[in-house]
Amino acid sequence: MSAMDKEFVALDWLYQEIILDHYKRPRNFGTLEHPDVSADEENPYCGDHIAVQVRMDGDRIADIRFSGRGCAISQASASMMTEKVKGMDLEEALRFAEDFRRMMRGEKPFPPEGELEDLDALRGVREFPVRIKCATLAWDVLQRALAQLLARKDGDKQP
Ligand code: FES
Repeated sequence: MSAMDKEFVALDWLYQEIILDHYKRPRNFGTLEHPDVSADEENPYCGDHIAVQVRMDGDRIADIRFSGRGCAISQASASMMTEKVKGMDLEEALRFAEDFRRMMRGEKPFPPEGELEDLDALRGVREFPVRIKCATLAWDVLQRALAQLLARKDGDKQP
């Protein structure tokens, strides 16, 4: 991250600390040996890239990893995302990913402060439209990965 990243330094100090913590010590960073699904995407604005792998246990997200490179906001958002959705079931995680993307785009209000835990730190990013994609990139990838799983599941239901 550039030390002169003006959008980042304009964020509330506490939020900066949380984002930097995830950026420096990303949770669930790396790859899975036997993922059930993988997806990846590049941010068209900067060329940064995130890949997500998910392993399911029945309908539940048993494990998740992310990899790639990007700015502090994108990496922190990916790290927070893995913590948030691990243990959720498929449809719950898909719904949350969609809600979070909508919150970041200003189409849905954020819940009261504290409810989203570390993800709250990203609320300030909404003030900087050019950085919203940084915060949603990992979620876009997750949504794509989970949609593949959902399609497979629906396919299995076909007579
Ligand atoms: Fe590339 Fe944020 S500047 S993902």
